[in-house]
Amino acid sequence: MNIFVTGGAGYVGSHCVYGLCDGGHHVLVYDNLSVGHREAVDPRATLIVGDLADVDLLERTLAGGDFEAVMHFAASAEVAESVQRPLFYYRNNVANTLSLLEVMSKHGIKKLVFSSSCATYGMPPAVPITEDMPQTPINPYGRTKLAIEWLLRDSAAAWGLGATALRYFNAAGAAPDGRIGEDHDPESHLIPRVLKVALGQSDQIKIFGIDYPTADGSCVRDYVHVADLSNVHGIAIETQPVGQFRCYNVGTGQGVSVKELVEVAREVTGHEIPASPSPRREGDPPELYADPTFICTELGWQPEYTDIRRVLETAWQWHRTHPRGYSS
Ligand code: UFG
Repeated sequence: MNIFVTGGAGYVGSHCVYGLCDGGHHVLVYDNLSVGHREAVDPRATLIVGDLADVDLLERTLAGGDFEAVMHFAASAEVAESVQRPLFYYRNNVANTLSLLEVMSKHGIKKLVFSSSCATYGMPPAVPITEDMPQTPINPYGRTKLAIEWLLRDSAAAWGLGATALRYFNAAGAAPDGRIGEDHDPESHLIPRVLKVALGQSDQIKIFGIDYPTADGSCVRDYVHVADLSNVHGIAIETQPVGQFRCYNVGTGQGVSVKELVEVAREVTGHEIPASPSPRREGDPPELYADPTFICTELGWQPEYTDIRRVLETAWQWHRTHPRGYSS
């Protein structure tokens, strides 16, 4: 299949591009490299450095490619930043997706897989989270992802778009063969921050909140490996029916607390990793983990990395060999 991939130089996108190329698909990556990395793009794919806001370039690129499907990863994805810069988030995420859909509809491209988020649930009424729970996001980032889901639903009904929204939980880990990994600047995510302490690049990990109503008082998350995310994208695009909107939670179903994760990281890395309690980070729900039954049943997907130790081993392999990320 000829597949157009936005944000294919980013963390999740780059792992999925490798998966698509391994599966024999032809991939064109469209990425402005604002947060992504040229080095992360599979050399078998074609990279066009472009912005979704550049509708002329987008139009020319989509017109010339005979694409059957689009995978849409490109987005701004920092919750705290979204609170500070909501207009930027709505423009970059929602308005640019609108442009993408307009160009797709013009060229009759009717298959899309979209990176949605568990952030669309906000504070869920219970865990594990099922797809039918209310979507009431608590920050602009989550609201942009929800707005896009509505765009996709309405496009499916109106012009036959076939779209799958994959609501990721916490994307984690690195390519098991060590080719690519996670490199954000600045880094806000727990696992890379913990591993930077192991590498001696920072003194300690701050645990944001130890007074949550959870078993050990720290926040609980569902860390889904990027290799599993890559697999599910391949399945989603190959099974995508025209004219239908689908949405799935993509997680392992296992909740792991911040304290547990730090403890396993100590064992995996063999480093002490000092940790200290810190005030809660604003807007963090206490406990988020998926009920992945629906996607497992409907798409036949099964996450391979259900043990946080194995997730951390792949992440550690990448960080150890790339202590300065892609500029190592
Ligand atoms: N945490 C710490 N110390 C740190 C960094 C994080 O204790 O230095 C904690 C956070 O408070 C949270 C957990 O570790 O409880 C995970 O935090 P991350 O920042 O790694 O991930 P989030 O759960 O905040 O964010 C993820 C995705 C977002 C998405 C969000 C939905 O990265 O894109 O889930 O809730 F919006």
